[in-house]
Amino acid sequence: MTDDAQGSAPAKGSASVAGGRATGAATRIIVALDYPNPRQALPLLDSLDGAECKLKIGKELFVRGGPQFVRQAAERGFDVFLDLKFHDIPNTVAQACSAAADLGVWMMNVHALGGKKMLEAARNALDKAGGSRPLLVAVTVLTSLDAHDLRQLGLMGSVEENVLRLARLAHAAGLDGVVCSPRETALLRGALGADFCLVTPGIRPSNSTADDQKRTLTPCEALQAGASYLVIGRPITRAPDPMQALRAIQSEIASLHTT
Ligand code: C5P
Repeated sequence: MTDDAQGSAPAKGSASVAGGRATGAATRIIVALDYPNPRQALPLLDSLDGAECKLKIGKELFVRGGPQFVRQAAERGFDVFLDLKFHDIPNTVAQACSAAADLGVWMMNVHALGGKKMLEAARNALDKAGGSRPLLVAVTVLTSLDAHDLRQLGLMGSVEENVLRLARLAHAAGLDGVVCSPRETALLRGALGADFCLVTPGIRPSNSTADDQKRTLTPCEALQAGASYLVIGRPITRAPDPMQALRAIQSEIASLHTT
């Protein structure tokens, strides 16, 4: 697989080039900053280089570290994926998306189950931010839910059918992509085309433990299945030398282009 075969990369802080698949190993890895507070997260920021990876900031760290921590990460040169999964009435989600865009984040997400009007409102709010806007991706079905859980919620069909239906809804509403599990990546790439951004967690380099992840792919397998970006946490954050772990993964990815 070559960079050309993967389409164009979204520019930093901009969705003017639609979701698309990223080019180059450095831009593909989003390190999940799963720490309880900024004090514990900062040493990792010190040890990583914003030119070589992006960062994902989720609910726990955001609730403790606030917008100030997001700005701090962005000011240090990191592209930040703000993983707050907004889900509310359209107006509220639109305002929240505008507020997140003001922080200078590179990517943010909402729940596709908020419905098409909510998705469109979120997308329109970011368009109004003008100039470059953050990428907007949707969560389809949480990987903690199985078909039984979905039936309890009144959602018939398999998990995959629901994922595909919600991903199509996000696509139709003008979102840049979806977050998807490794086992859904190939299905969604095939169904939604080369320009839709697929952000895939559950990645484990060939030499690392699965931790609590049930279905994992290696970085190369996920990219070959069509992932645009790889969300990787513990294999990097818990490594004795996180930068070395990141570079080892980048080498693994680079080998894709030479074989
Ligand atoms: O440490 P690890 O690589 O397992 O971290 C994966 C990250 O991706 C975590 O922040 C986790 O919450 C997130 N995530 C996931 N599976 C999903 C959605 C998000 O692992 N389906």
